[in-house]
Amino acid sequence: MAFLLSHIGAVSKKFALTTIHFTVFLYLGSGILGTFHHLFWAGAPAPIIALGAVFSALEIVPLTLLGFEVVHNLRVIKSGGKEYAYKWPIYFFMSVAFWNLVGAGMFGFLINPPIVLYYAQGINTTPLHSHTALFGVYGMLAISLLLFSVRHIVSRASWSDKMLKISFWGLNGGLALMALFSLIPSGFYQLYFAVKYGLWFARSPEITSGPVLRAFAWARLIPDVIFSMGAVVLFLFLLRAVWLTFIKTADPLKQ
Ligand code: HEM
Repeated sequence: MAFLLSHIGAVSKKFALTTIHFTVFLYLGSGILGTFHHLFWAGAPAPIIALGAVFSALEIVPLTLLGFEVVHNLRVIKSGGKEYAYKWPIYFFMSVAFWNLVGAGMFGFLINPPIVLYYAQGINTTPLHSHTALFGVYGMLAISLLLFSVRHIVSRASWSDKMLKISFWGLNGGLALMALFSLIPSGFYQLYFAVKYGLWFARSPEITSGPVLRAFAWARLIPDVIFSMGAVVLFLFLLRAVWLTFIKTADPLKQ
């Protein structure tokens, strides 16, 4: 993104390079050792668990710094005017910063301390974090990069801001509602039993196939439909853009 933003003149090359160096330093310093938090029940010795807990907590630092980028990006969109071509690619990039903070930062941090992992590894607090972090961060980032690239390939007339707006709110709104109405309540419901009786009970069929978790699974229906609609509209946007740029204009009868 630093490359793209400097390419379109939104940030200076020097600023982009400094950000990249700093981010690489932070990610290498925190990210690699941070993955040890996955080893809690894998029989890893205590020092490894301690290293994982400390360094993955540090992962929050670059994620928070990226969050501050949102303010900068808003300024870029505003200065581009109403017809700014990169508006929705930048909005998608801003949602990366949001999910970085909420999905990876907040929900990741929630399950990260070893004492929490003792009670909560592999219950629904994990999909709460993994959905919001994995799609929220890397899914939205992939869409943002895709749109930046497509913008250079297709004609301005084939670009529909309206469709991108629907897709943006469908994907982000659907993900947020899924977390809010299904994954948060089912995760905390299991956590309650994990603390009361132990992790074994929170993961037992009595709980995982019980009426409460089933109800929370059904509560995903509407958010999932909203999310899927966002994905379908994005797909239609791409088809339409390719159709209008390459196929319709190439029709000799229409020229
Ligand atoms: C964009 C960044 C991140 C992504 C894409 C991500 C993704 C994931 C995924 C997919 C899982 C599930 C793995 C599995 O079930 O085997 C997971 C688990 C986990 N993540 Fe993250 N994560 C991110 C950042 C973080 C951060 C910053 C923290 C800590 C502050 C964190 C803490 C954890 C922990 C503790 C688990 C294990 C939970 C369990 O097994 O119950 N993650 N993450």
